[in-house]
Amino acid sequence: MSTPAGGLRSAKWFAGQSVPGFVHRSAMRASGFSRMAFEGKPIVGICNSWSEVVNCNMHFRGLADAVRRGVLAAGGLPLEFPTISLGEQLMKPTTMLFRNLMAMDVEECIRAYPFDAVVLLGGCDKTVPAQLMGAASADVPAIVLTGGPAAPAVFDGKQLGVGTDLWEYTDAVRAGRMSMADYERLEAAAGPSRGHCPEMGTASTMATLVEGLGMTLPGSAAVPAMDSRRLQVAEECGARAVGLATEGLRPSQILTAEAFDNAITLMLAVGGSTNAIVHLLAIAGRVGVPLSLDRFGELSARTPLMVNVRPAGAHLVEQVFHAGGIPAVMKAVAPLLHTGAITVTGKSVADNLPSATATETSVIAALDSPFQPPNGLAVLRGNLAPGGAVLKSSAASPHLLVHRGPAVVFENMRDLLERFDDPDLDVTADSVLVLRSAGPRGGPGMPEWGQLPIPSKLLRQGVTDMVRVSDARMSGTAYGTCVLHVSPESAAGGPLALVRDGDVIVLDAHAGTLDVEVTDSELEQRRSALTVSQEHPPRGYTAMYVDHVLQADRGCDFDFLVGRSQHPEQEPDAIFDGWVGGW
Ligand code: FES
Repeated sequence: MSTPAGGLRSAKWFAGQSVPGFVHRSAMRASGFSRMAFEGKPIVGICNSWSEVVNCNMHFRGLADAVRRGVLAAGGLPLEFPTISLGEQLMKPTTMLFRNLMAMDVEECIRAYPFDAVVLLGGCDKTVPAQLMGAASADVPAIVLTGGPAAPAVFDGKQLGVGTDLWEYTDAVRAGRMSMADYERLEAAAGPSRGHCPEMGTASTMATLVEGLGMTLPGSAAVPAMDSRRLQVAEECGARAVGLATEGLRPSQILTAEAFDNAITLMLAVGGSTNAIVHLLAIAGRVGVPLSLDRFGELSARTPLMVNVRPAGAHLVEQVFHAGGIPAVMKAVAPLLHTGAITVTGKSVADNLPSATATETSVIAALDSPFQPPNGLAVLRGNLAPGGAVLKSSAASPHLLVHRGPAVVFENMRDLLERFDDPDLDVTADSVLVLRSAGPRGGPGMPEWGQLPIPSKLLRQGVTDMVRVSDARMSGTAYGTCVLHVSPESAAGGPLALVRDGDVIVLDAHAGTLDVEVTDSELEQRRSALTVSQEHPPRGYTAMYVDHVLQADRGCDFDFLVGRSQHPEQEPDAIFDGWVGGW
């Protein structure tokens, strides 16, 4: 087996007759590993986000066992380690608040332990970007293995996409079209298996983008969680990690500007979650790739919707898998990709795709006959969002993409919950619902509140969509004409904080503009009278988060984590050179 120039990273821990070498080997032997098991072998860390409070990742112990088999078969030693995990459904107030914390946990574990490569096991929404951010910063060879989409739920004979249908059924209950008894039957049926949400929500989008970035094996993203082929892919990832360890191929060599272009193009081609925008911006920031919101707009202008999957289409990710999976999508949009980009296989995108074909054109289209034309994502700017905002046009109502209407402003989520169903609320179908204090600092954590509920009195009139504007995010499974990620957020003094009830808001998704029809001088007057009433969290992680989180247009990472590592004293070379010399 070959080793990288300079030898294996783990040799710095285990080689030599120094006291540190003794201590490290002794620690391994105390765990039951003989010297034969680890000396001179690539050590592959299995970064496992398994947790009993993260239902989507509950099958990861079995996946880790399969990774372990692959590592051993390829001549390495697998060592599994835990980090914090982020469960979208149970974790409060929002997993996004803790994405950066998990990224720090992943980064520091990878850097601090004797790993020559790592396999990142992520699934539920934020676990994948957190692992990618951490691995990008640690820059030790890494490969991602996602958990795969869960089996589809079936309710009253209809196949469900969990989140997408939940919103519809919830509106049906509120409008009096569905009984609470049926709603409870739905609750029992909604999650029939382990795995992440089965439509193209945030988890499936991120799994797809990992393939687009070149950070996982081709064809792995869409394999269903409960399909035996996912275990086979896990074995292959383990084996490939050994190859990465010996070749020394690092995330920073894969996560290039071209790789991000490819990932964004795929996100647009599958009609993916807007949450991925924030995550890609954050990952790019970790490797020093100058990615901006405008690049999303540029690529949106040329990338059509190629996959008929919910929430933008009709099918679930399982059908995408059976129609050829993400390689077939990449093959279909190959003219829009940088096919020379290097991937975790050690080969280029083009080399990875020779035999990929879409077997079902009703699921994966050809480039000359897409399901929707380009511009499925609008990047908006204007006096209401000088730093930018986004609108998933492909999931919005076409008649609302150009709209002007009076604002109905909610100060925060509590205010919204108290008033949105008030029969006396002055709101019509033409109103623009505005929510503030829902951004990175204001939430805090930029919760998924961007799909503001439509007041019941309008639902009963048959209104199914309205223009909504906020500094929040939106679930990847949600839909509607929801302007999201308004930046700077209201809690940071952005113009959203200055809007008043009745101000006319003008949205033009085609022109990429979002404005409030108030003069600059009036806005300045309002700004000088503005008092920021936001309470600062008194202590702990949340206080640090609020002090250091960047705005949505910069990926909501911490200001002190952006960029390549500037601290060579934290690298093992420096630590061991100094330490070994002193003993
Ligand atoms: Fe975990 Fe959707 S709730 S992936």
